[in-house]
Amino acid sequence: MNTVQVSDELQEYLEGLIPPRDAVLARMEEEAHRESIPIVDAHEGAFLSLLVRIANSKRLLELGTATGYSGIWLLRATSGGTLTTFETNHERALRARSNFAAAGLAKQALVLEQDAVTGLEKLNARFDFCFIDLLNSFPSEDITRKVFDLCMERLDGGGLLIADNALRQGEVVKPKGQQARNVAFYNQLVARDSRLESVVVPIRDGVSVARVKD
Ligand SMILES: C[S@@+](CC[C@H](N)C(=O)[O-])C[C@H]1O[C@@H](n2cnc3c(N)ncnc32)[C@H](O)[C@@H]1O
Repeated sequence: MNTVQVSDELQEYLEGLIPPRDAVLARMEEEAHRESIPIVDAHEGAFLSLLVRIANSKRLLELGTATGYSGIWLLRATSGGTLTTFETNHERALRARSNFAAAGLAKQALVLEQDAVTGLEKLNARFDFCFIDLLNSFPSEDITRKVFDLCMERLDGGGLLIADNALRQGEVVKPKGQQARNVAFYNQLVARDSRLESVVVPIRDGVSVARVKD
């Protein structure tokens, strides 16, 4: 086994390789740390940003906004792209709108204060990048499959389907609780779908990266 175990020291090293963030992202990182808001870290933000740039994605969908941290990384990687993002928590949705405005992205970000599953069902739009950042919160495998299907229906060929927490701190290997089973189920859905080419990248808690074949 030659896999590197990412210690806190190594994680700090990785984050040190990411260029310093501007005042908006730096403040959001500090607030998230202080208030335990579950956002991606800068290392993952930079990774997501790179995916958007490589794929030249412009129509972005995000399930799970929190206060808009990952959304800002994603939008800044586009050239004039748009982001539709779902968040059920009222205070977080308000803060996300304010943060997008502070980043100069208010016109490009649509924060929908709605349940992502029912909201996505009603959303009549197509995307070329979908970031699922609430895999951990689905109540069942059926809902997990539903979200996967809804995202796939809205993605064009060449589009990216990304999900965070794909390793669930290693619990996916022998899932015990329902949420770990949901995440393991999602990984199987992605891996077995012949429309997708995919890999799980062990950044932070694992990022599932899949591309819809042309
Ligand atoms: C991990 S956080 C998102 C972090 C954000 N993407 C970032 O990195 O900056 C997940 C968010 O999803 C929200 N959430 C949970 N279940 C939801 C649902 N069914 N629909 C919409 N939002 C939901 C939570 O309130 C939480 O703020």
